[in-house]
Amino acid sequence: MSDIQVPSHEIILVQSEEERQQCYDVRIKVFHIEQKFPLETEIDDTEDASAHFLLRLTPSLEPIGTIRAYKMPGANYYKLSRLAVLKEYRQHRLGRELVLSLHDWVKGQAQQKGTLESVEIVCHSQVPVKGFYAKFGYEPVGAEFDEDGDPHQKMVLCMPLQP
Ligand SMILES: CC(C)(COP(=O)(O)OP(=O)(O)OC[C@H]1O[C@@H](n2cnc3c(N)ncnc32)[C@H](O)[C@@H]1OP(=O)(O)O)[C@@H](O)C(=O)NCCC(=O)NCCS
Repeated sequence: MSDIQVPSHEIILVQSEEERQQCYDVRIKVFHIEQKFPLETEIDDTEDASAHFLLRLTPSLEPIGTIRAYKMPGANYYKLSRLAVLKEYRQHRLGRELVLSLHDWVKGQAQQKGTLESVEIVCHSQVPVKGFYAKFGYEPVGAEFDEDGDPHQKMVLCMPLQP
């Protein structure tokens, strides 16, 4: 962890088009400009049905991170994707806060739907980030595969709903 003080911040569940665009802007900076993933695949057909979370500085409300949760109709798991924190704000446990916000939201959704014991969350981790997800209990399932030209690993968390 860097010695620089963690900046004052908040994480919100996106409500407006403007906030959603701010999530896209962070994703484009991180995944397209920094990591060179294609721009064409950044915005996909799950956006409207996803819950988007925006990490922003306070009081400036400058967007610095995001994450997305999606439940395919009929599926019994949630998908975590598009986790990104701007480079200059990493190693402050902000990525961790984004994941925990998504976990809390998934818990609430699953409980509302009457799920009792546990809920599954799936992500396609970039290979260098597997260790980050492992810290939350995500476990690798199957072999590495190519997604958008880069190696990924399916990681799955079985999250208990009881305290
Ligand atoms: C992945 C990412 C979101 C992590 O954000 P971050 O704010 O720097 O991470 P945090 O500070 O919250 O890290 C939490 C913990 O994971 C660890 N960690 C962070 N990145 C890691 C990595 N690549 N591999 C293993 N552990 C990692 C941290 O050291 C910290 O450990 P600790 O709890 O023992 O102190 C950020 O690096 C990022 O945006 N990367 C580019 C986009 C990306 O790869 N997204 C994931 C797509 S699958």
